[in-house]
Amino acid sequence: MIIAKNVPELRAYLAQRRAGKRLAFVPTMGNLHAGHLKLIEVARRLADMVVVSIYVNPLQFGANEDLDSYPRTPVEDCTALEAQGVELLFMPGDKEMSPRGRAAQTFVEVPVLSDVLCGASRPGHFRGVATVVNRLFNLVQPDLALFGKKDYQQLLVIRLMVSDLGMPVEIVGVDTVRESDGLAMSSRNNYLSPQERQAAPRLYAVLGAVRERILKERVSPADAEPEARVALEAAGFRPDYVSVRRRDDLGVPAPADKQLVVLAAAWLGRTRLIDNLEIDL
Ligand code: PAJ
Repeated sequence: MIIAKNVPELRAYLAQRRAGKRLAFVPTMGNLHAGHLKLIEVARRLADMVVVSIYVNPLQFGANEDLDSYPRTPVEDCTALEAQGVELLFMPGDKEMSPRGRAAQTFVEVPVLSDVLCGASRPGHFRGVATVVNRLFNLVQPDLALFGKKDYQQLLVIRLMVSDLGMPVEIVGVDTVRESDGLAMSSRNNYLSPQERQAAPRLYAVLGAVRERILKERVSPADAEPEARVALEAAGFRPDYVSVRRRDDLGVPAPADKQLVVLAAAWLGRTRLIDNLEIDL
């Protein structure tokens, strides 16, 4: 596996080796787990060449968030990527990603969708994501890029950015990979204490209960949401939101909408967990 640490190295390798190949790109922040590896596995099925990036993107962390403590495991990550047959890893530094400094950074903003749910509690987060993914797309120029449904709102923000800006990249969403007890895999699961780790799968269980209530008992989303909040609180969470939304744009669903998703973000101690579950009426 080739590791490119700057733009000239990345461009030189792609100029030499890319010709005629369908290129799939998997952007990550590293500390790779089975969720990330699933994206790479799907990428390999859909393309001739897979490029992965690892960059802990400061633009998407708020002032009081976990940028400094975010887990960084480059040695283990490289071993995992080699084993997956990844050809090229792009590991830029801040200078490569924000050449004129963060204060002077040009931004990509995807309004409306970026302001609800996670965007409401993390102002500027999706602007940071869209900005960095836009730059990565411009540098790598992939034919397709893969994103996890675990970060459902992020996947939709990227889809809107690509559509609004006419970017020639196909966006592929990949199902959430879970631990055997249902907890969605996440680098932030590392922050959980043993007791919190025991309680954490309740988040997925509560989303499953919302789906059952809506599908089988025909309870309205407006009634299912407060029930879920109470259930999360009973399990020791501090819910940020639990919300049933339309799947294509995360708008509030009308009775005629059939493709829904229930999304939640909730704190367990000092860790903020997110998860979601699709509902087909
Ligand atoms: P990161 O959290 O490292 O996630 C990288 C990709 O892996 C994202 O597309 C995410 O949705 C996906 N992923 C994470 N956990 C997953 C799981 N359990 N199952 C399936 N996919 C999972 O998301 C980011 O990084 C950043 O915001 C990034 C897109 C790289 C921009 O900085």
